[in-house]
Amino acid sequence: MDAMLFDVQCIQVWGIHLVVPILLVICIQLLWHHYNLRLADPANKLPLPPGSFGLPLVGESFSFILKANFIRMKRLTLGTVYKTHLLGRPTIRVSGPDNIRKVLMNEHKLVTSHWPKAVQNLLGDGALSMMTSGTSHKNRRRLITKAFTHDALEVYTEDIIAVIREEIYKWCQDKTVKAYPSCHHLTFRLAAEILVGFRFCKEKNDELDFHFHRFVNSFFTLPINLPGFNYRKGVESRNKIHELLDSNIKDRWETDAYSVNTLQVLLDAMKDSGEELDVLGVKEAVVELMFAGYDTVGSALCSVILKLGQNPHVLEKIRDELFVHGILEPSEDVTFAMVGKLPYLNNTVKEVLRTCAPAGGGYRKVLETFELEGYQVPKDWTVIFSIRDTHEHSDTFNKDLTFEPDRWINIEDKSVAHEFIPFGSGPRTCIGRFYAQLVMKLLIIELCRSTEFTLLDKDPVIKILPVFQPKGGLPMEIKKRTVIYQNNNFNAKI
Ligand code: HEM
Repeated sequence: MDAMLFDVQCIQVWGIHLVVPILLVICIQLLWHHYNLRLADPANKLPLPPGSFGLPLVGESFSFILKANFIRMKRLTLGTVYKTHLLGRPTIRVSGPDNIRKVLMNEHKLVTSHWPKAVQNLLGDGALSMMTSGTSHKNRRRLITKAFTHDALEVYTEDIIAVIREEIYKWCQDKTVKAYPSCHHLTFRLAAEILVGFRFCKEKNDELDFHFHRFVNSFFTLPINLPGFNYRKGVESRNKIHELLDSNIKDRWETDAYSVNTLQVLLDAMKDSGEELDVLGVKEAVVELMFAGYDTVGSALCSVILKLGQNPHVLEKIRDELFVHGILEPSEDVTFAMVGKLPYLNNTVKEVLRTCAPAGGGYRKVLETFELEGYQVPKDWTVIFSIRDTHEHSDTFNKDLTFEPDRWINIEDKSVAHEFIPFGSGPRTCIGRFYAQLVMKLLIIELCRSTEFTLLDKDPVIKILPVFQPKGGLPMEIKKRTVIYQNNNFNAKI
């Protein structure tokens, strides 16, 4: 009898301990779901897209960041428009050419660029991607575009080749290197030397290197400006980079220096249009260019090595093309005009960007409620457009991510304007896209003609955040190329 009474008491105690918390969790979860549903636009009769808001407050942020296959599974189960809750905001994620077109071509009308607070503060109002007013964004874009015209890129080409050659020479001396960090170092040098025109002593370069990395690493953190916090370190390093830029900008403004870098082209363009020198604005614009072109280009260059290493037949075809155009020997000069005449190389670069898109997507804030696939996309929510999902499920490319540069032979760029979007699309298309592709092409040319390399991990696990990258850094063996080239396809049409 006593034992039975004890059992009943145990069940009651355990019942209270288990049932109450479970009920509480269910209640909080329901409240969270209803709270978010109430953020829909009541004036719009359309339903919200399918999907879930995840856990209270954190939403689905951790799953998106930590689970490699989460985004792909969501796309497969929920389709091309679905709701979720990310980084503290109710969010609609979209992919597919029609949805991409509607979102990206309606910049400043239905949507506007939207970045986390820490990024906004660190880059500042002078950064192009932070400008939300249509007019100031358009005017600033017109100015910065001058630094990436055909003529400007032609001038940068010789210096880009020189930096690439120096870095490849070091890789060959080291014999075994990790492609991912090595490509990032190369990209950093290009940013410092070609974009900003820094060519100072080793100590100053190391100082810029240190502060630039500290700055980049502080971006996706909470904007807490207190000692010890990453954000505070980012602010300190941003100020230091601005200090290093200060004298560079003033000297260049006053001395009419010969223009071989982006900063100089920018200053010249400002002078030509009769603008006053706004030192802070120029510093913010230049730092943004360094930042925007760092991880993305570093990732793209590493993917070039990954794809060429996995597909030696592609590498050989590029060598054929270089041979036919008389630039296979490292002693033969490569010019910007020549690079534009190599169709197989061009298709290889597009295929790398399609199969290994460096950036996964972009963020927008909704300015007024609109419709996508019969669902409402409510005012003030975040929209994320997904580059990778769009590439992965494209009909034109048969939903196929197999690396095959020749598939581009019959595809016109215009016909896939919203299916192939490594650089986004519309008024905010990447301003550095031609520069990035030029650097990719020049790296491929130098790798093909001066080196032989072998991947030590041919099929690495891929991480997609913050950019596409092989886990383990993609180790490779690399040496100077000594083989006498024999082109068996000399008469073949390339
Ligand atoms: C392979 C390399 C690169 C990739 C994949 C890439 C990707 C992108 C994407 C997807 C966007 C659009 C973002 C959006 O719509 O929200 C963008 C914008 C931008 N990119 Fe790039 N980018 C690359 C290289 C560069 C380089 C080298 C620079 C500068 C030197 C640069 C500067 C910018 C800037 C300033 C914007 C903002 C444009 C605006 O808001 O009007 N990017 N990039």
